[in-house]
Amino acid sequence: MSLLDTIAGVADAGTLYGIGVGPGDVRYLTLRAAGLVRSVDVVAFFAKRGMEGHARRIVAPLMDAGRRELRLEYPVTEEVPVADPSYQAQIGGFYHRAAESIAAHLAAGRSVGLLSEGDPFFYGSFMHMWRRLERDHPVEVVPGVTGMSGCWTKANVPITWGDDILSVLPGTLDEDVLHDRLARCEAAVIMKVGRNLTKVKRAIIRAGLIDRALYIERGTMEAQRVAPLAEIELARGPYFSMILIPGQGRRL
Ligand SMILES: C[S@@+](CC[C@H](N)C(=O)[O-])C[C@H]1O[C@@H](n2cnc3c(N)ncnc32)[C@H](O)[C@@H]1O
Repeated sequence: MSLLDTIAGVADAGTLYGIGVGPGDVRYLTLRAAGLVRSVDVVAFFAKRGMEGHARRIVAPLMDAGRRELRLEYPVTEEVPVADPSYQAQIGGFYHRAAESIAAHLAAGRSVGLLSEGDPFFYGSFMHMWRRLERDHPVEVVPGVTGMSGCWTKANVPITWGDDILSVLPGTLDEDVLHDRLARCEAAVIMKVGRNLTKVKRAIIRAGLIDRALYIERGTMEAQRVAPLAEIELARGPYFSMILIPGQGRRL
């Protein structure tokens, strides 16, 4: 066993691992995450219909041929609005069935590693499995480098100075709510920008923050793009896109 394997440890039977796989570059996985990706009996991941799965793509360089995989495919993603009762019903049923299929592996004594982009406990779908399974099965959550951390590092901007307060806002919020929060913020990260880009940009302009806002697409990945938001003319961004408004607090 290599020193790396000794430090990372291996998976225990019948245990669910929520594995944070970081912002995109496989080199940003923790040792524990990399060790588990290679040693769990079943590698599970969420994916949009017909797509590879974001977290699965991140760990591709660590996956040997012939590994047992459990693909958990969302029945809907953007086709139905989140507030629509049919979305809630379909996603709720999907999470229930997904938890059952993971539980079947755990009951058979197999370890399952559920991949999670960034950190599993930070806006992660893993949380919906954790909530359903943690009472009856051993679960270990492996923290990951968050997407926002990867993004501000690659954009080369410190995000908070001194006593700056950081606000993390989902771009899915209503424009007026976004504007209200932004107008009072010192530093901000806006997640889930994708198809909300135009609305989010409007809220940022209204809050007088456009000159400080940076747009980051696919942070730490090969196709990464970093640009001032003012220069972005897209109507929508890709799934992996966020906006940073760095703080301007005390600089000594
Ligand atoms: C459902 S949240 C998952 C967050 C994740 N658990 C984390 O710790 O970063 C997905 C959102 O995170 C943001 N995100 C995550 N990684 C990113 C990256 N590498 N580049 C740009 N945005 C990213 C995007 O705004 C995306 O819509």
